[in-house]
Amino acid sequence: MPLKNEKIVITAALPYANGSIHIGHLLEYIQADIYSRFLKLIGKKALYICASDMHGTPIEINAQKAGEKPELFVEKYWKEHQQDFKSFHIEFDNYYKTHSLENKELSEWFFSELKKKDYIYTKQISQLYDETAQRFLPDRYIKGTCPKCKAEDQYGDVCEKCGVTYSPTDLKNPHSTITNTIPVLKKSTHYFFKLSAFSASLQKWINAKDSELQPEMRNWLNEWIKKGLEDWCISRDGPYFGFEIPHSQKETGAQKYFYVWLDAPIGYLASLKNYCDKNKQNWKDYVYKGTLHHFIGKDIAYFHYLFWPAQFLALNIPLPKLTAHGFITVNGEKMSKSRGTFLTAQDFLNLYPAEALRFYYASHLNQHLVDVDVNFDDLVAVNNNVLTGNLGNFCYRVLTFAQKNYGAIEEIAVEGALTKRISDLMEEVKHHYEQLDFKSAVKTILQIADLGNAYFQEKEPWKDKETKAAYVGFCVNIARNLAIITSPILPQFSKKIRTALNEQSLTWNTLRFDWKGEVKKIELLVEKIEKTQQVSELFPLHLCIGEIKDVKDHPHADSLYVLNVDFGKTIGTRQVVVGLKKHFTKIQLQKKKAVFCINMKKAKIRGEESQAMVLVADDGKKVSLLHPEGKIAVGTEVTFDRLEHRKSEVTFEEFKKLKMEVHDHKILFKGKVLKRIIAKSVNNNAAIM
Ligand code: 2FM
Ligand code: ZN
Repeated sequence: MPLKNEKIVITAALPYANGSIHIGHLLEYIQADIYSRFLKLIGKKALYICASDMHGTPIEINAQKAGEKPELFVEKYWKEHQQDFKSFHIEFDNYYKTHSLENKELSEWFFSELKKKDYIYTKQISQLYDETAQRFLPDRYIKGTCPKCKAEDQYGDVCEKCGVTYSPTDLKNPHSTITNTIPVLKKSTHYFFKLSAFSASLQKWINAKDSELQPEMRNWLNEWIKKGLEDWCISRDGPYFGFEIPHSQKETGAQKYFYVWLDAPIGYLASLKNYCDKNKQNWKDYVYKGTLHHFIGKDIAYFHYLFWPAQFLALNIPLPKLTAHGFITVNGEKMSKSRGTFLTAQDFLNLYPAEALRFYYASHLNQHLVDVDVNFDDLVAVNNNVLTGNLGNFCYRVLTFAQKNYGAIEEIAVEGALTKRISDLMEEVKHHYEQLDFKSAVKTILQIADLGNAYFQEKEPWKDKETKAAYVGFCVNIARNLAIITSPILPQFSKKIRTALNEQSLTWNTLRFDWKGEVKKIELLVEKIEKTQQVSELFPLHLCIGEIKDVKDHPHADSLYVLNVDFGKTIGTRQVVVGLKKHFTKIQLQKKKAVFCINMKKAKIRGEESQAMVLVADDGKKVSLLHPEGKIAVGTEVTFDRLEHRKSEVTFEEFKKLKMEVHDHKILFKGKVLKRIIAKSVNNNAAIM
């Protein structure tokens, strides 16, 4: 991949501000970060640009569920995303948002320019409408069978099985995922982008001799084009969280909004513009005179290789570069919450250091469309045997030896042949980085560390420290060079070495074999890790706030009450049989809000059905209900911090095995706190029953 242009904008797909960053996301952010760091290292004017993707129906509906305004809802994730990226040393030059003024203006500009050039038209279409929820059902809220490959349970916009995009009305057997009802067809006028007009020019671009597209991707795209490109509906009806389309009321009879996939990629440019405005630069210099290079996952290829370049072709913007990666699996399977293999960035950090993942991903990524399996046995082995055992061990051993025995490097052995060999290998590393072949870069880096280790071992400086100082000097130079060439993958590792050598500069052209100077005590570079049994745990109870509306004596059991509990609109009211008669009077329970487990297997208790279970704290003397701290609406789900909660049915036996305790009136499970809930008037160590 020759780097002709000095100005390069690297982007990674904008994560939705609708959930936490997980290790699947991180593959791409780390891949693009390594590349961006490498470009900077070799002196390119590269920017790494990203943003949170804030629009669309899922965000609007989830904000509604959380009882928040979408603007505030997305802001929380925007902050969390940045924190997570920072923890993994992912260094953006700008991390912005799609719900921004810049993006609104640019989206309107794209729209009006495309319209002026006649690439946008309106057309009345029939769309699926949920009469119960009183809204059109866009994309993700309709599920059905893929019209092309017949895969079941696919969303309304794109088939995750075969990758094809379609309109929701093409789905077979559709149903609304909001109300589970069968939607009806309703007419609405929408805006369409003439994608079909770009078939030939996209094909030309894809198959150009000097095309840098990955071959696997090229085949895929050719197939799509061969099947025929359909024009793309770029508007949505309200309620929608997104930008209003100017004049749409007049042109279509109702206020329309830009479809999230219209303004999301424009969000790359909006973030770039925001950066340039802050830094007194012109974003157009990057877009028109530089190179835009998008890193994406293959699941969003259609948007990035067809819709997006087609708009560039229409507007005479130079076409972007694109690199796609595959999917990740964890221990050989699709990430899954129920199998405990869904790890957020935070979950991972609770187990292992960030650079263990960076190194692991780098060791698997090359220029092809690779799928990566995060196998935890393998991850531990790579970290312990390769990163720590080889690379880390060499650098740490040499620098510690130099610091303890000499304090400074003053003489360096002249090793012509070895210097040449290592210099050649470093050139190779550079080439691999340029080719996005990080796997080979890692291999070659390890070869250098091996050579260093063998040399240090052969010279045995510990036998005669005085006469062997020059050999150690040579080794310190290798370690210093390794710090530079590993820095795109292992920025912390690199920094620790550079700190010990008091080296500020970090550029490829400072690689050398004649560095002299003080060596300070070095921090531990990398650590061995252990495989944890369960990578993440699923808490089996689905806990909800309910309000006790009515308390009756159980007709056939003296110690039991029969409660009528309200769980709000979605869940409704349920009958719950409880053994609380000796602890509470009826009045003490009436109108109280408490925590209930609502996925308990239903049971008949002495002839009365119990459809949930109440949770209480018992310290042997007193029994207390679990109270909401402050105001919480009935039906609200309550969760333990940082734990995924299972929704499928739980048995009483399973429940009995769970050890929940009270500390300072907080309810804890394995050290994690039940959020927003307290147990009053019981002592520490009270058990939850
Ligand atoms: O698939 C996704 O997660 C999208 N939020 C990616 C958007 S990338 C770009 F187009 F903005
Ligand atoms: Zn399909």
